Amino acid sequence: MPENKRRLLVTSALPYANGPIHLGHLLEYVQTDVWVRFQRMRGHDVHYVCADDTHGTPVMLRAESEGIPPEALIERIYAEHRRDFADFHISVDNYHSTHSIENRQLSEEIYRRLKAGGHIVARTIRQAYDPVKHLFLPDRFIKGECPRCGAADQYGDACESCGATYSPTDLKNPVSVLSGAPPVERESEHLFFRLGDFEDGLRKWLFPDITDVRHVQAEAANKLDEWFAAGLRDWDISRDAPYFGFEIPDAPGKFFYVWLDAPIGYMASFSNHCAKTGLRFEDFWAPGSAVELYHFIGKDILYFHALFWPAVLEGAGYRKPTSIFAHGFLTVNGEKMSKSRGTFITARSYLDHVGNPEYLRYYYAAKLNGTMEDVDLNLEDFVARVNSDLIGKYVNIASRAAGFISRQFGGQLAYAGDTKPLVAGAKVALAQVAEHYESRDFGKAIRAAMEFADRINRAFDAAQPWELAKDPSKRTELQDICSRTLQGFKLLSVLLAPVLPALCGRAAREFFGLGKDFTWEDAVELPARVNPYSHLMTRIDAKQVEVMVEANKAGARPQESAAFISIDDFNKVDLRVARIVNAEHVDGADKLLKLTIDLGTETRTVFAGIKTAYAPEKLIGRLTAVVANLQPRKMRFGTSEGMVLAAGHGGTELFLLSPDTGAEPGMRIT
Ligand code: MSP
Ligand code: ZN
Repeated sequence: MPENKRRLLVTSALPYANGPIHLGHLLEYVQTDVWVRFQRMRGHDVHYVCADDTHGTPVMLRAESEGIPPEALIERIYAEHRRDFADFHISVDNYHSTHSIENRQLSEEIYRRLKAGGHIVARTIRQAYDPVKHLFLPDRFIKGECPRCGAADQYGDACESCGATYSPTDLKNPVSVLSGAPPVERESEHLFFRLGDFEDGLRKWLFPDITDVRHVQAEAANKLDEWFAAGLRDWDISRDAPYFGFEIPDAPGKFFYVWLDAPIGYMASFSNHCAKTGLRFEDFWAPGSAVELYHFIGKDILYFHALFWPAVLEGAGYRKPTSIFAHGFLTVNGEKMSKSRGTFITARSYLDHVGNPEYLRYYYAAKLNGTMEDVDLNLEDFVARVNSDLIGKYVNIASRAAGFISRQFGGQLAYAGDTKPLVAGAKVALAQVAEHYESRDFGKAIRAAMEFADRINRAFDAAQPWELAKDPSKRTELQDICSRTLQGFKLLSVLLAPVLPALCGRAAREFFGLGKDFTWEDAVELPARVNPYSHLMTRIDAKQVEVMVEANKAGARPQESAAFISIDDFNKVDLRVARIVNAEHVDGADKLLKLTIDLGTETRTVFAGIKTAYAPEKLIGRLTAVVANLQPRKMRFGTSEGMVLAAGHGGTELFLLSPDTGAEPGMRIT
């Protein structure tokens, strides 16, 4: 343990519970995790918490479109997110939900304190309302023509064509993206948080005297300067029903805006962690707490974290963050992630196609530098770099030297001559790389590690161990160079452990036989023996990456804000009324029925997974709905030429759709 043992509470931003984790999100979770693992390896007391961000209109509408309650949606997504994070080795100590009892209590309490302090005011506002769907429309749910340049199909808050920002009422010919109806204006009373009350405190916190710590990065401070110059406006913290969130205690029918309770979710997750571990909440959140509190976020949510959040904390009598660490956005091959290019890649798709999460962790680390600059995942460079650095330079060191040690020395290492320089070299490397990790300049940490790797490989080659091995009088020399090389491998494994926890964990436990993961200091203890080397990592095959991109082009999944399809998308699906003219069991299939369906002008064979719910004789003669232009699918039992539509959970809970009387086979469903 270091004498200056620190206590840290670290968070990553809470991902929305309306979609899957993708490679953009992972930039943040990997960045946080590397830093957290580094701090733990140094012996500090680190608590890393996160949660799903479950409230708001998009979650509500997504659940509605799936025909399930929001609670069911967020539960399913929670399980998916947790699995994705676990598979990418994101070592959160607690992963909670903003739809939790802790979060409700904390949100209510914080609201009460803000109100008692006079920081909440009510005001009537005019807002766009969807008269068909009966709900108030967030800016992003209104589209129309840009009031400045006239570009069509622009969102209610900003024009993607000319960059103008405006309010949705300024749009020309606005429509609700939910119903297509023109929104109407409606009055409603909203609750506002008076951010301006905290201007002095915020300024002091954000721009301290040179003697104080810096709470945000230099680039973030510049942004904040602009925001202060523009004036701190009151913040609208309430939304009218229907809304998925927490109802405001003294304002029935009104709900906390998702961004009010989202950051409180950090506290809620930590409070839940306290209940499990016996840690004391107050030690971490009371004003004057000696615990360091860090929020890792993307640059898009800086305003919430650097202005609203500290102001809310101050107003409610809590401590403020030690630092906000904002990162840039992920681009893929130099461009925004895109479904049409196949670069909108989910965590799951990466795992399914490429597999090893540590390739990506390594690449991200190599590209991150602690600033708000965007980070590019260049897929060709990704393959080349992982193969040349991790396999060619790092892992090879162990495989080359371990062979001699296992075969000729029974795994025993021995150093001839003075080992002090070896230890001193390790100390220098550790100190240097630690500084890079600490300042989140992971790129420099990786570069330094790879320079050591080059040096170790060169020294090994220069000693020509394969020649030494031929000469029985050179055994001491052979054992010495291999031992030094393996000490080098140990040093590298310690340096890379925050980034490659699984690989380095295996190196520590299996190869070096430590029976535990590495700590930072382990690199100054020269290893005395090693176990036979078994391979630690294989090369990436560029083909796998290509297949992943192709797969994401074909089966693009809906992204959070794009959970809607256009009418054109809908029209691509050829839905028809069909009559089931025959239905029979399929030998060897326990779920399938073979249906013959009449589409008016033709008959087709469709295999449908409805056997658990329907006896075939019951189906013959009835009408149903089918997707008529689905790519035919070869199955073990024959080719399926369409899909019948059914609802339900499966098993006996399956319900075929049927049209009202009068519909005829072949009619198009629109
Ligand atoms: N729910 C809010 C955060 C609430 S925190 C109290 C949110 N969710 S998010 O799912 O949209 O994003 C979660 C985090 O991932 C954010 O920090 C966001 O900046 C980051 N990223 C999402 N897409 C990203 C990229 N393409 N690139 C890098 N980071 C990205 O915002
Ligand atoms: Zn415009």
